[in-house]
Amino acid sequence: MRSPLAAASWVRGTTRVATAVAEVVGTPTGPVLDVGCGEGYYLSQLPLPDRFGLDVAKSAVQMAARLLPDSQFVVGSAYRLPVLDGSVAAVLSVFAPHRRRVPASAAARGRWVTVTPGPHHLQQMRPVLSGDSQRKASERLQRRAEPPVEAAAARRVQFELQLDASALRDLFYMTPIRWQAGATGADTDTGRAVSVDVWVSSSPA
Ligand SMILES: C[S@@+](CC[C@H](N)C(=O)[O-])C[C@H]1O[C@@H](n2cnc3c(N)ncnc32)[C@H](O)[C@@H]1O
Repeated sequence: MRSPLAAASWVRGTTRVATAVAEVVGTPTGPVLDVGCGEGYYLSQLPLPDRFGLDVAKSAVQMAARLLPDSQFVVGSAYRLPVLDGSVAAVLSVFAPHRRRVPASAAARGRWVTVTPGPHHLQQMRPVLSGDSQRKASERLQRRAEPPVEAAAARRVQFELQLDASALRDLFYMTPIRWQAGATGADTDTGRAVSVDVWVSSSPA
């Protein structure tokens, strides 16, 4: 199966995010579990021996397992983590279900590291809104201007990424933006710069 993530120059751009994630995760003494691991890209950037990934999408798990044959992956839900309490030293969640919504059992020791959007993340692809939708969007932007409330420490990573048309389309279909009426990126035939703006946060278990 073709991997849109691996094909996109988006990946090369996001090495900056992966570097920040690796620095924040550090070298925990024990297993690291990536919840919503997708194709395993962020896990692959952690030079650690004990790597586990979980995703609800079977095709993503298959790709992750091919990318990282020495790590273990499982198809499952973040809301029912199939791990023993206290067995995980760090839980990672990158643009995926995160701590506030996931039962805390997995990380009874260790900490959570999350990547969540900042206010300007992919703003060039978002639709122009009006009325009530615009009000809700501005509230969301205000919320995203601060790190997640549960974060004990957070760093903001911001940069511009120049994408060609094909990478832009791949990115569009990877993000929830694709569900928003009027979002742009699906049918483009020209490249564009997009803003990457994320919080890399950590919080104790
Ligand atoms: C935007 S992708 C991010 C993938 C990966 N973390 C990355 O950044 O490359 C979100 C991922 O979360 C997964 N996901 C969504 N809901 C989930 C759930 N309830 N339990 C486990 N995984 C879930 C999706 O299948 C998808 O692979």
